[in-house]
Amino acid sequence: MNTTPQRYTVTAALPYTNGPLHIGHLAGVYVPADIYARFLRMQGKDVAFVCGSDEHGVAIPMKAKKEGVTPQQLIDKYHGIIKQSFLDFGISFDNYSRTSAEIHHKTASEIFRKLYEEGKFIEETTAQLFDAEANQFLADRFVTGTCPKCGNPEAYGDQCETCGSSLNATDLIDPRSAITGAVPSMKETRHWFLPLDQYQDWLKEWILVGHKRDWKTNVYGQVKSWIDDGLRARAVTRDLEWGIPVPVEGAEGKVLYVWFDAPIGYISSTKEWAAREGKNWEDYWKAKDTKLVHFIGKDNIVFHCLIFPIILKAEGSYILPDNVPANEFLNLEGNKLSTSKNWAVWLHEYLVEFPGQQDVLRYALTANAPETKDNDFTWKDFQARNNNELVAIFGNFINRVVVLTDKYYSGEVPQPGQYSDVDEQTIVTLRAYPSVIASSIEKYRFREAQGELMNLARLGNKYLADEEPWKMIKTDEERVKTVMYVALQIAAALATLSEPFLPFTSAKLKKILNMEQENAPGDEGTLWTEISTKKSLLNAGHHIGKAELLFSKIEDEQIQHQLEKLEATKAANAAENKKVEPQKETATFEDFTKMDLRVGTIVEATKMPKADKLLVLKINTGLDTRTIVSGIAESFKPEDIIGKKVTVLLNLAPRKLRGVESEGMILMTEDAKGKLVFLNPDVEGVENGAVIS
Ligand code: MF3
Ligand code: ZN
Repeated sequence: MNTTPQRYTVTAALPYTNGPLHIGHLAGVYVPADIYARFLRMQGKDVAFVCGSDEHGVAIPMKAKKEGVTPQQLIDKYHGIIKQSFLDFGISFDNYSRTSAEIHHKTASEIFRKLYEEGKFIEETTAQLFDAEANQFLADRFVTGTCPKCGNPEAYGDQCETCGSSLNATDLIDPRSAITGAVPSMKETRHWFLPLDQYQDWLKEWILVGHKRDWKTNVYGQVKSWIDDGLRARAVTRDLEWGIPVPVEGAEGKVLYVWFDAPIGYISSTKEWAAREGKNWEDYWKAKDTKLVHFIGKDNIVFHCLIFPIILKAEGSYILPDNVPANEFLNLEGNKLSTSKNWAVWLHEYLVEFPGQQDVLRYALTANAPETKDNDFTWKDFQARNNNELVAIFGNFINRVVVLTDKYYSGEVPQPGQYSDVDEQTIVTLRAYPSVIASSIEKYRFREAQGELMNLARLGNKYLADEEPWKMIKTDEERVKTVMYVALQIAAALATLSEPFLPFTSAKLKKILNMEQENAPGDEGTLWTEISTKKSLLNAGHHIGKAELLFSKIEDEQIQHQLEKLEATKAANAAENKKVEPQKETATFEDFTKMDLRVGTIVEATKMPKADKLLVLKINTGLDTRTIVSGIAESFKPEDIIGKKVTVLLNLAPRKLRGVESEGMILMTEDAKGKLVFLNPDVEGVENGAVIS
């Protein structure tokens, strides 16, 4: 076979370096992208799988301020953490770059300049939102307001995350500065706009006609609705300090819009890789026969299906994406994943609690991948996927095969005899799996593909359970040799076919089976296809190694611990969410001294009849014993508060509550959970009637 392999450029959305990675990132983008890239390589394709950190945009300086560090320190920190997580979880990027890299600044600037020189931008001075207090133009995440399309009150200046609309900051209803909270004013500023509307007809033809059948319906549907709504020009520059300086004269103090530069990061990352590997990067971005595939989450659809393709088209020498298999969102235990609310399973924390169990998470996330709709990750499901599928089916089958081969034949693959009908059928079924799994992967249906992989393990399990070699060994040793030989072929196929999904397990299993690895297409096809074509995957006489546990059971306590961690997060968020009341109007010293605040003791407490909230208290104030009606019945039982020292406002004008005259007020506050507590002056030696001043 001498044909040149099909070339692929596979990209995965560049993560923002404003926080670590969580399961939503893996499930939505990186695991499916990795399965795809690994699969292509095993098919002998020529693949560039690229990614990098997205280090520009308003989110970065905002987060840096919050953490009390410089933007550079922030991106360095998270770039390191993120890169390590990708390594740890076996995401097999050929290159992981970052948009602060010089090569990226150069690449993005060159593309901008080319479009600028060829008159592809509209240069215009318009009035934009401005925060006078912060002395800052407000765009993107610097401004929030109500989405004009769906009414979400928390839309950002460039995008509404509820309905996915892409917005201009001036579209927002009731905009507010995210920096100071101020209502912005308008101020004139000059920017460069990409006239998306001029590409509308071309987009219609390219996507709505050209990709109607092969793009996912969630992606196609979103794109169609934007195009139907009509596209408008969008600014691709910003008045900001952090970012890539606009590379034209008279643009001081302006940088490229993050969504202009970030996707170009795919190109810069490819250049970095090609330079290192002695390849030609242009083959991967400009050769017409290269397939470009973008893996992203659904909030990135507009940028990858409309804006970036328009940039590439305007530039003129680039290929366009062949597909953009965007996923929907993953939730966690019923709630939206959120970095700021710490509602997440962080990858670096997972590894500490489940060391060496990367494949379990990869497996559970793929089994539940939000491919067509939002999905929920629950710890119970995670446990069940591990215990009932990986341990009970895959692990169990492999363990039996390896242990029995060791026991009966000291680890040597036996010489098979005549195949029975069941053996024949099993081998035929086995040989069909590579193409069954491939056809799902090619349609970007990764959960279906992984389900088929598990079906192969089920096939093996059932075969052994039906043939029962452990019984037959006493009566028909020759037949057992054939059964074990067939079972070993299934094990070998699993070792290979599991690689895209469970790379760590696959490596371990190949080691156990002592399998050779050869990725380049050989006489009998590629690693992937030879499972269907090769006569034998493990030849008689081949020696396998010792059994090793592939998966281990996850106990209830471990799951309970994870659930408790989430409960603690919920409680912490609830406490934080309790808004601290703003300060009241100024009171003069005279105002304050008018208040007669004293220490008193509750001497009697009874429920107010027919009033759920009210207690009638008798208070010894040092001056007298008086009646005070207090709205604390839902927080305290009368018998529990008798004898309590409290703070009393004595000279509050008396008023009648339910017919009982109340002569004063008890001062209370709330704890973090919203429960009432007494402002307790219970200090030794303080007597009733003591003045508080
Ligand atoms: N950083 C963006 C996000 O996390 C994704 C950028 S994708 C790229 O949503 F194409 F711009 F690189
Ligand atoms: Zn909206």
